[in-house]
Amino acid sequence: MFNLEKIVRPNIQQLKAYSSARDEFKGEAEVYLDANENPFGSLNRYPDPQQTAIKKRLSEIKGVNENQIFIGNGSDEVIDLAFRIFCKPGKDKALTFTPSYGMYNVSATINDVSLIELPLTEDFQIDINSLETYLADESLKLIFICSPNNPTGNCFTKETIEFILRNFKGIVIIDEAYIDFSTKTSFINQLKNYPNLIVSQTFSKAWALAGVRVGVAYANSTIINLYNKVKPPYNVSALNQKAVLEKLDNIAQFEIEKNIILNEKEKLEKELQEIEFIKKVYPSEANFILIEVTNATELYNQLVAQKIITRNRNGLVHNCIRVTIGSEKENKQFIKALEKLSVTPNKVNKGTLNFKRQ
Ligand SMILES: Cc1ncc(COP(=O)(O)O)c(C=O)c1O
Repeated sequence: MFNLEKIVRPNIQQLKAYSSARDEFKGEAEVYLDANENPFGSLNRYPDPQQTAIKKRLSEIKGVNENQIFIGNGSDEVIDLAFRIFCKPGKDKALTFTPSYGMYNVSATINDVSLIELPLTEDFQIDINSLETYLADESLKLIFICSPNNPTGNCFTKETIEFILRNFKGIVIIDEAYIDFSTKTSFINQLKNYPNLIVSQTFSKAWALAGVRVGVAYANSTIINLYNKVKPPYNVSALNQKAVLEKLDNIAQFEIEKNIILNEKEKLEKELQEIEFIKKVYPSEANFILIEVTNATELYNQLVAQKIITRNRNGLVHNCIRVTIGSEKENKQFIKALEKLSVTPNKVNKGTLNFKRQ
């Protein structure tokens, strides 16, 4: 049986959250002399520490209660706070799969938590057999599942994820940063079935607000209360809250832009298949595509020389480059650059990039 009390660090269990001025008085007043603010200017007041307006809108859109929502300074904060709430530094462990998003490892290291990184299978799926031996380890507190996975672009099966949720006595964080681009449904609607589930989403990808830094965790209210206790009091600025609320007021535009990106992805996939030195174009449930070539580092450098920046993932997936879906103009420029490389072999790419696809 999952027992949250056994999973939470004792010091966090006992922690009394900081109570800010804006936590203690809620409502409208005429004179605010409680928070040592400056009476001048337009951004002189502290923001709502509980981001009530955003939670209200998200609760309507996502069909969850407001007390099941935590708003973070990007979903990177959702990841970091999970380590702080659940893992005793130097003692507890977390687990994820590789290749995946690099911040699980960085956050684990910052928090002095050892991270087990289980290799995905050749087709980038989770190998349940290799995972099973770890599930009973009582010092293992967190499992991160990134679905759609960065950088491979695929989702994991519902059956596999549910198997982990059922059989692991710790917390499962499903990182759904790219879920809005996917054909698969979010695990948010499984919150009622799994008390150990946290679903992480972000405004940085499909919502086009990476510069704003707002991420969201959905979980049962007990877990959300722990997040609220541990977060800095004013972790989301007034400007950031405003930007998110404006976006949420125009969902039609969000849908239009998302569909443009999905159409562009389809076009780009087809065009990439035609480039002779590209060995493989991996299917993607996200707003990026992973491509395999014979020499990823050379290709990356040659694109940089043409002022086009992709992500060289060679260290993670052998000879692979991850390319984000840009605007129509940017994608055209990218394809043009690739075509140029395949028809004008020069000193660098000769014999390395001109590879016939099998
Ligand atoms: C899988 C995944 N999770 C989380 C993040 C971080 O998102 P945020 O901008 O919300 O911190 C990223 C960013 O690239 C990502 O790829």
